[in-house]
Amino acid sequence: MELGAGGVANTVWELYESKGKIGSGRYGAVHEAVQKATGQTVALKEFEHPGDGQGFTPEILREVALLKDLNQSRYVVDLIDVETPRSSDTSIYLVFEYLDMNLGHYISKFEPGLMPRRTIKMFVFSLCKGMAHIHSHFVIHRDLKSDNLFVDEKRMILKIGDLGVSRSITTPPRL
Ligand SMILES: Nc1ncnc2c1ncn2[C@@H]1O[C@H](COP(=O)(O)OP(=O)(O)O)[C@@H](O)[C@H]1O
Ligand SMILES: [Mg+2]
Repeated sequence: MELGAGGVANTVWELYESKGKIGSGRYGAVHEAVQKATGQTVALKEFEHPGDGQGFTPEILREVALLKDLNQSRYVVDLIDVETPRSSDTSIYLVFEYLDMNLGHYISKFEPGLMPRRTIKMFVFSLCKGMAHIHSHFVIHRDLKSDNLFVDEKRMILKIGDLGVSRSITTPPRL
């Protein structure tokens, strides 16, 4: 499909093919999608414009800014791109690497007590490394739970996701 003037897509679906809705984010739908240019499967998280003439909310801009900063850790879900198609007066899209299972789903596959010790160790290690990385950037996640921890089954590691309510601490807390 032809891109709009200036090489900017008119809608995000010129660049990605949806494989279906996989979640409802706080601000819009999350789709499993394939990036047409690369064939890579991604999670496309939509942030709808509130439509009140005030622009995008601070939460959206915060998640984008923080994620761009935190992207270098293998223990944080990779932000591949940010798409602002021409229709971006209504939505912007964060493009994440696709991970097909969160920690809650993964744990539920095992009978209680039967998850391999090695896997538990790797997950705890991932969580500590990921949080250390996030904290080293003076960011607090504020929504750590099994829904927001994704399992990379190929590497058998955890990746921390959903920084939608995280905060940057720019000044040290007062003692
Ligand atoms: N990178 C991803 N890979 C696969 N699924 C994802 C990914 N990011 C989000 N999802 C799916 O979308 C849901 C909502 O996304 P999330 O980022 O947690 O937003 P929120 O909790 O703010 O609604 C998740 O619970 C998950 O099912
Ligand atoms: Mg979430």
